Amino acid sequence: ALGPLVDTFGRAVSYLRVSVTDRCDFRCVYCMSEHMTFLPKPDLLTLEELDRLCSAFVARGVRKLRLTGGEPLVRRDVMTLFRSLSRHLETGRLEELTLTTNGSQLARFAGDLAACGVKRINVSIDTLDPDKFRAITRWGDLAKVLEGVKAAQRAGIHVKLNAVALKDVNEHEIPSLMEWAHGEGHDLSLIEVMPLGEVGAERVDQYLPLSKVREDLATRYTLTDIDYRTGGPARYVSVKETGGRLGFITPMTHNFCEGCNRVRVTCTGTLYMCLGQDDAADLRAPLRASADDGVLQAAIDAAIFRKPKGHDFVIDRQTRQPAVSRHMSTTGG
Ligand code: GTP
Ligand code: 5AD
Ligand code: SF4
Repeated sequence: ALGPLVDTFGRAVSYLRVSVTDRCDFRCVYCMSEHMTFLPKPDLLTLEELDRLCSAFVARGVRKLRLTGGEPLVRRDVMTLFRSLSRHLETGRLEELTLTTNGSQLARFAGDLAACGVKRINVSIDTLDPDKFRAITRWGDLAKVLEGVKAAQRAGIHVKLNAVALKDVNEHEIPSLMEWAHGEGHDLSLIEVMPLGEVGAERVDQYLPLSKVREDLATRYTLTDIDYRTGGPARYVSVKETGGRLGFITPMTHNFCEGCNRVRVTCTGTLYMCLGQDDAADLRAPLRASADDGVLQAAIDAAIFRKPKGHDFVIDRQTRQPAVSRHMSTTGG
């Protein structure tokens, strides 16, 4: 019989992140380089194969599935995958089916997502200044993203906003971003920028520790630690003045790997056991080797056995060497 997935450190893998495409209609500076070469389409797993792969993990006790990218909503017919995966919600095997999105296509898909049982989504918005937004995403249209967020809300989906904290870029806007988010009924999570892909001088200089942000916020707001958890690495506080929740995702200043519950699979069927390590296992060959899941499950077991203790991210002013050579967009965070 197939048991739950437990690594050599005793951590159970209950959360799978699936990057359904490496493509994106934005080029956020901390996620992609300006000129990316994308995978040739034949390298991608089909939607049927992605479904089979996800379902193999659900059979092993994965309770949360998050589709990412690139931008998940630019994958052709991605709703077919959502619809088909939603059967696991109906059987109760899966607790949550969700996505992390840049929001650009959300106005179009919000209704369909809600119909597939998606109750909560994460949308990346680093700034409410349209020009700054365009600079960070290299050409994104903030108005369209905000329209998408509204559409999701109207469809009854709870929206959490993600903002990567960037020194001198959105640093001074964090309070107003938070007040706006909370006023609209959204949670907000702040994220420390992680060194993946080529890390230029700019990004080294833009690193902003959230311990500093929290200190600054605490001079203006009453922050209280709460034990609200979503299954991810964010630690939340409630903000008395706004009545909202603020999350801190601190891979750099406070490592949370000890409680890691997740692995990631890319659109080519490559399994990454850690966001912050290069080690990976190919699941595409075992998936295609046989219509029976035996070979695939054995490959998954072998990979989970190699799950490392954690990342070794450092933002090194001198070397600027990324801990991980792939870009964030390969695994979608
Ligand atoms: P929730 O289910 O809402 O808790 O989502 P989440 O925070 O796990 O996912 P999301 O896609 O919103 O990611 C937010 C940020 O957290 C991104 O910058 C991710 O890269 C980062 N993140 C998520 N999981 C991990 C992890 O295991 N390790 C590290 N270092 N960062 C992570
Ligand atoms: N460091 C931290 N967060 C990042 N994201 C993308 N690249 C990075 C990075 N280098 C965030 C996006 C999105 C989430 C999935 O990951 O803003 O909200
Ligand atoms: Fe696209 Fe998201 Fe990466 Fe930005 S962070 S380039 S929106 S995949």
